[in-house]
Amino acid sequence: MKNYKIKGIAMSCILFFFTQLHAQKFESLAQTPPMGWNSWNKFQADINEQLIKETADVIVSSGMRDAGYIYLVLDDGWMAPVRDEKTGDLVADPKKFPHGMKAIADYIHSKGLKFGIYNCAGTKTCQGLPGTRGYEYQDARLYASWDVDYLKFDWCYSDKQNAEESYTTMGKALLSAKRPMIFSICELGTNKPWIWGAKMGHLWRTTDDIGVQFDGYIDHKTWKQLSIMTMIDQQVGLEKYAGKGHWNDPDMLEVGNGLTASEDRLHFSMWCMLAAPLMSGNDLTKMSQTTKEILMNKDVIAIDQDPLGFQAFRYSNEDSVQVWFKPLQNDEWAACFFNRSSVTKNINFNWQRENVNDTLHKKSLPTASANFNLYDLWKKKNIGNTRNPLNVNLAPHDVLLIRLSR
Ligand code: GLA
Repeated sequence: MKNYKIKGIAMSCILFFFTQLHAQKFESLAQTPPMGWNSWNKFQADINEQLIKETADVIVSSGMRDAGYIYLVLDDGWMAPVRDEKTGDLVADPKKFPHGMKAIADYIHSKGLKFGIYNCAGTKTCQGLPGTRGYEYQDARLYASWDVDYLKFDWCYSDKQNAEESYTTMGKALLSAKRPMIFSICELGTNKPWIWGAKMGHLWRTTDDIGVQFDGYIDHKTWKQLSIMTMIDQQVGLEKYAGKGHWNDPDMLEVGNGLTASEDRLHFSMWCMLAAPLMSGNDLTKMSQTTKEILMNKDVIAIDQDPLGFQAFRYSNEDSVQVWFKPLQNDEWAACFFNRSSVTKNINFNWQRENVNDTLHKKSLPTASANFNLYDLWKKKNIGNTRNPLNVNLAPHDVLLIRLSR
């Protein structure tokens, strides 16, 4: 018996060693969707030391850190236009970051946060700064020496590169630098990263860039920014690719950047339903009370961070009203109803007649045999149970987000 046990342990050790040998990423990271702040949506390349330090301070003082927003990510624009002549290393822009990146990392870490940085798989970043192509291992070592915890890796100036190969190379480079970093694949969905991204990455962008727009898109002639609704449309069917340690990324949040309060609530609700990474993208130093209440609604964040790690599926889409469901731990569920149109819509949802079935995760909502209480996560109150039909009016662009529990 004893012998049998020892053999079992030895086998597990060998198996563990073998999987580590073949590991293509830091497996234990991003077990729930990563949360944090990224400089791009609000500031684009106009970033500097003072802004980043103030942002780090306010993440803590506002309560964002304690709500889970841990990763502070510097997007494009942190670098000098050329690599170091002698070493070939990337250099921080000396005007914007006079004390260099390690000093920024130390400051961010001193606040109990984690530090993220940006580059591109191509020869240049989207802003024309030095890209990583040909420098993958060198850049990974440099980031490790700066104590970087998260790398967002974009896809500009990648010309004829093969996406899967390029991201595999960078993933291996990060592993060999031996500092655990979340690897955020920002390939924009062109080469279907949801099919291969989980091998080397922890999240992958599924679309082009988001903009401050509710529906349709913002046309910049040579490129388009997508709206909240277009983003949501493009997530349908991708739920099977998401799970612990590997998430679909419908881009960073625009909450607090100019949408109405109900649009912001809808946007945030749906990102949480989708188990999307929650990277805030607003000016945290100037957040309104409404923005704070949205970004830090802990019950809504709990839907995103649910330990099962399931992405919601679209249950129905009729007459501009969509209904989405997401199974949660302990046999609870989240339900999201939203109104895409510009007129008020009446919702009449008879729980006893509907057949909510998540075939992917083999979970169904047993409203015939069990009674679920309905808790409105924005109004923070009970609104009935599943014995009775739900009957509510939804204002234009508004959302109803419910947690169902027995
Ligand atoms: C791309 C990305 C954005 C941002 C910019 C930076 O457009 O999709 O999220 O990183 O590049 O230039």
